[in-house]
Amino acid sequence: MNQPSPYTPGEVAQEVPGRAAQLAFYRERAKYIGLLGNFSGRITVYHAPRGLGKTSLLRGAQRIFRSNGIKTVWVTANEDENLLATLLSEMRQVLPATSKASHKVRDSLDSFTIGIGTAGTGAKATFKPSETASKAKAFQQAVIQTVAAISDDGGKGLVFLVDEIQSADKPSLRAIAHAWQELSEPEKSPPAGFFAVGLPGIQEYITDAVTFSERYQFIPLPDLDESGVAEALLEPAQDKQVTWEQDALQQATKLAQGYPYKVQLIGDESWRAAQFPEPGRAITISDVETATPEINRQMRTLFAARWRSASKKQRELISAIAELGGINVRRSQITELLGVDTGAISVPRDRLLRIGVLESTEHGQLSFTVPGFTEYVQQLNER
Ligand SMILES: Nc1ncnc2c1ncn2[C@@H]1O[C@H](COP(=O)(O)OP(=O)(O)OP(=O)(O)O)[C@@H](O)[C@H]1O
Ligand SMILES: [Mg+2]
Repeated sequence: MNQPSPYTPGEVAQEVPGRAAQLAFYRERAKYIGLLGNFSGRITVYHAPRGLGKTSLLRGAQRIFRSNGIKTVWVTANEDENLLATLLSEMRQVLPATSKASHKVRDSLDSFTIGIGTAGTGAKATFKPSETASKAKAFQQAVIQTVAAISDDGGKGLVFLVDEIQSADKPSLRAIAHAWQELSEPEKSPPAGFFAVGLPGIQEYITDAVTFSERYQFIPLPDLDESGVAEALLEPAQDKQVTWEQDALQQATKLAQGYPYKVQLIGDESWRAAQFPEPGRAITISDVETATPEINRQMRTLFAARWRSASKKQRELISAIAELGGINVRRSQITELLGVDTGAISVPRDRLLRIGVLESTEHGQLSFTVPGFTEYVQQLNER
């Protein structure tokens, strides 16, 4: 019996191999909140470029919190929405369906939502300090009341999980930090937590927006290491009683360069090349070799989309960085190569950082975020 591929290119991964440290962190927090009834006072943000497994990791966190009896509010931030308003409206979903308390809380959530208004929507919105304080107060009250209703019903607390937090509006980020600051006072603290994931530019974006930015903690989510990649390839196959021959696994691991999306592509295309193996079969090195051109083609599609959506100025910058090797490129190297001053590259640089094409490493050096992009751009420019 041929078996369908268990790999998930472009889809949220079911399991998150290679992420033991991060899962251990969430497990510890789940105990801290759910078992000990504590307030988790820092908003932890894992950040990484596109395709590194942020959403998959946050879904893994959600499974952990749920299995500890903690209710979860999941929101994917969006540039057109007010994050706080979305959070408040999603909080209705976690209220116990029948209890009397829920009824009252629902009414107050409604009035908070009206109270915070939708003025100041969008990532570029400005804000007044007094507005922040009243929004923060509303959110703080909403959290306290919702957690109380959840506890009355036997639940173990509440956590917020926010994906794509780099798209959140600054007024909301500010109000959330403010509320978290207030809630961390011992006598007020409900069993609650706030966890987010976003693109690498997020730390600058939030510290720029928020007064209590020490409420946020930023941790980079690294590439998968070799054993993480191997596990990601082996485990889904194992579930279908299919193995990888050792040299096939070595070749695949090398090809993946620690990039989770590519791991899934390699798994998926090798599975196809092995003709949807039956239980008891193995994936061989020749399957991986047969699959490689298609894997590369699909990676090029991803790169082409990035190139196409870049403006003229952004393309100039991308080309310069590629020419300079694509990793840890200094600003002075770029301006020298292009014959311009620093000001001329700052706008495209900021945009490319914000959308995650570039990341800024030590001392503001720039690197591409996806392995293979340098070679792609170099080839484009050779033609
Ligand atoms: N730990 C992991 N091991 C192997 N593959 C993974 C892992 N995490 C995610 N993936 C795979 O990597 C790809 C990207 O995953 P995911 O969508 O979670 O990343 P992301 O960082 O949220 O990306 P984006 O920034 O585009 O939203 C998917 O194909 C997913 O199946
Ligand atoms: Mg994602």
